[in-house]
Amino acid sequence: MDALDGIIKQSELAINAAEDLTALDLIRVQYLGKKGEITALLKNLGTLSPEARPQFGQIINQAKEHVENLLTARRNTLEVAALNQQLQSETIDVTLPGINSTVGSLHPLTRSLQRLIEIFHSLSFKVIEGPEVETEYYNFTALNTPEHHPARAMHDTFYFADGRLLRSHTSPVQIHYMQNHEPPFRLIAPGRVYRRDSDMTHTPMFNQIEGLLISESGSFAELKGLLQSVLEQFFEKKLDIRMRPSYFPFTEPSAEVDVAWRSEDPTEHSRIHTKWLEILGCGMVHPNVLAACGIDAKRYSGFAFGMGLERLVMLRYGIPDLRLFFENDLRFLKQFA
Ligand code: PHE
Repeated sequence: MDALDGIIKQSELAINAAEDLTALDLIRVQYLGKKGEITALLKNLGTLSPEARPQFGQIINQAKEHVENLLTARRNTLEVAALNQQLQSETIDVTLPGINSTVGSLHPLTRSLQRLIEIFHSLSFKVIEGPEVETEYYNFTALNTPEHHPARAMHDTFYFADGRLLRSHTSPVQIHYMQNHEPPFRLIAPGRVYRRDSDMTHTPMFNQIEGLLISESGSFAELKGLLQSVLEQFFEKKLDIRMRPSYFPFTEPSAEVDVAWRSEDPTEHSRIHTKWLEILGCGMVHPNVLAACGIDAKRYSGFAFGMGLERLVMLRYGIPDLRLFFENDLRFLKQFA
């Protein structure tokens, strides 16, 4: 019984001094665990006489209960303290400013292409696509540009070892379509094209929008009217455009189209001046091209055009350097959100 008193006193001191739940649990093991001090006393009951056992048993069990109650009470106190501490360290200051979430936006090229497609849709043009890896036949031969024709050198073409190539313009899409469909046609074919060229105004990959209209009454006047209308819708203003005679093997006659661009250049003392800027090539589809597609050139005629998408977008937004389109600099892209 002397030993029991000492054990109870020690355990009371230890329990009150326990600073956290881990320390408290070690104390529980020390007194009530399998090899604990109070447990050992209970095990010793067997050495007492049968008459003495109930009395001592009761006293030890009361001591055990007492220690258990102390442990539970201390555990509750420590748990509440731990919770309070956690709540204090995790408080939210609702007066802090919120975090702005940024919303992505379409790339200016994508956005402008979508607008142009809408404009052409409203004029009953349908959108088609063709392969970017081409053969010489589609990129040149069927477009009235036979082997050794000097016009093949007009485009610095990327060739693969097997003779195939990366298309240098979207015009081959005309051939794929015309060979597999019956006229009349009214279509545009936007897509990537590739040329061995790289500086401020040229990148090895850029985008063109090809246009093709073939009917029983396609005319140059219709071409000019269509381009004027599409360009004015795209730039959202009245435009002066001019057609300069030019040469493409697959159109005859051929023209390049310039728009009059009024620029207010601060480096020129705010002098307003007008420049003619070339934006596309076009012409009446050459009878040889129609023939290569099995189309009767006596019955059908029409025109084609090819415009550079980057060029149009640079003009519309006043973007000075073509390479900005491909660098993915957020400071540039965010301006089109
Ligand atoms: N394919 C020509 C080019 O890339 C543009 C063009 C297309 C010209 C259609 C006339 C007709 O330069």
